[in-house]
Amino acid sequence: TGAVAFTGAHQAGIVTPAQDRLHFVAFDVITKDRDRLIRLLKEWTAAAARMTAGQDAGEIGAVAGIPEAPPDDTGEAIGLPPCALTITVGFGPTLFRGADGRDRFGLAARRPAALEPLPRFTGDTLDEALSGGDIGIQACANDPQVAVHAIRNLARIGMGTVSVRWSQLGFGRTSSTSTAQATPRNLFGFKDGTRNLKAEQEELLREHLWVQPGDGPDWMAGGSYLVTRKIRMLVETWDRSPLAEQETIIGRHKGSGAPLGLSDEFEEPDFTAVGADGEPLIPTTAHARLAHPDANKGARILRRGYNFVDGSDGLGRLNAGLFFIGYQRDPRTGFIPVQRSLAAQDEMNEYVRHVSSGLFACPPGVTGPDDHWGSALF
Ligand code: HEM
Repeated sequence: TGAVAFTGAHQAGIVTPAQDRLHFVAFDVITKDRDRLIRLLKEWTAAAARMTAGQDAGEIGAVAGIPEAPPDDTGEAIGLPPCALTITVGFGPTLFRGADGRDRFGLAARRPAALEPLPRFTGDTLDEALSGGDIGIQACANDPQVAVHAIRNLARIGMGTVSVRWSQLGFGRTSSTSTAQATPRNLFGFKDGTRNLKAEQEELLREHLWVQPGDGPDWMAGGSYLVTRKIRMLVETWDRSPLAEQETIIGRHKGSGAPLGLSDEFEEPDFTAVGADGEPLIPTTAHARLAHPDANKGARILRRGYNFVDGSDGLGRLNAGLFFIGYQRDPRTGFIPVQRSLAAQDEMNEYVRHVSSGLFACPPGVTGPDDHWGSALF
């Protein structure tokens, strides 16, 4: 229920031990006025600092203002503790150059090469209206009301300057980002996050998670690139497949989470092991094998996704899946090669559909009360 520090060298909400709930929003910037956008980023930063500390979004608060004016906080978090709320911001490729090629805010020359829009992957069934966005904001908390309150108030403050393009609720973290956390399970019933990057692996984080000085424009040093993918999971089809088949698709045992052929969750998978039939114990089409760094020139991603169930689809099926969230130093050596391997060969593709995609450059953390989101970019 406590508070997570808002300021720091890196933004909170990346290596912060994954909270239980998510509200993610992608905004389109609708103003053409650069100063107005910067003003909003300042207002947002102040509101985010207050809300992550468990305070109202505005200085007056939900009920202390004059009766003639709308309150500067919406009120539904009154009395709730901070619940480890983190608010993490990122800038999408279209902020730098719009789909029409226009450079609305004089930022085109500041766009990092790593923020090149993602390529199309085999099997993608993306809904454009649910994809992209000029600014992405991830709110994570251990209480859904706190996460929703945060996004709702940022949207309220942004009215007239930005508009909500899409948003996503998530429950049940599908990853652990700290060795202190137990590994949770995703909606296929498998442990997810076993071999994730973790907060304690400082050397690996430097190599694979945080943008280093010299990687690209200075304004991103200490930041990280965020890829979001809304992945529908065809759970009804999955639930009719035999346990042994589910395990060979993932490449791990469902109960323990151990690599096939082993018994401890955290043992290293042995990709050379063969079964009695002479075939590899972990098939070449298994998810955990294709996603492993050995199959992707050492690529590693910090995964921080959430389950979702958005009601049902009108065809008697749950509209359920995984809202994948992955942070990395550079998507060109992180998400892109991994997703290419998966898209080409993963046996799991029969059971999943990628319906939304987002890419955001998340700058380093704000340093204190005089700093604000995007201060080094604009
Ligand atoms: C590992 C499930 C999508 C990247 C795993 C594991 C499971 C899993 C059960 C094994 C446990 C672990 O090591 O964390 C799923 C499901 C997905 C999905 C159900 C879709 C609905 C993706 C996507 C990517 C990805 C889109 C990235 C492009 C990885 C990576 C690992 C992993 C990097 C760790 C591999 C290793 O280092 O051994 N996933 N995953 N997954 N997955 Fe996924």
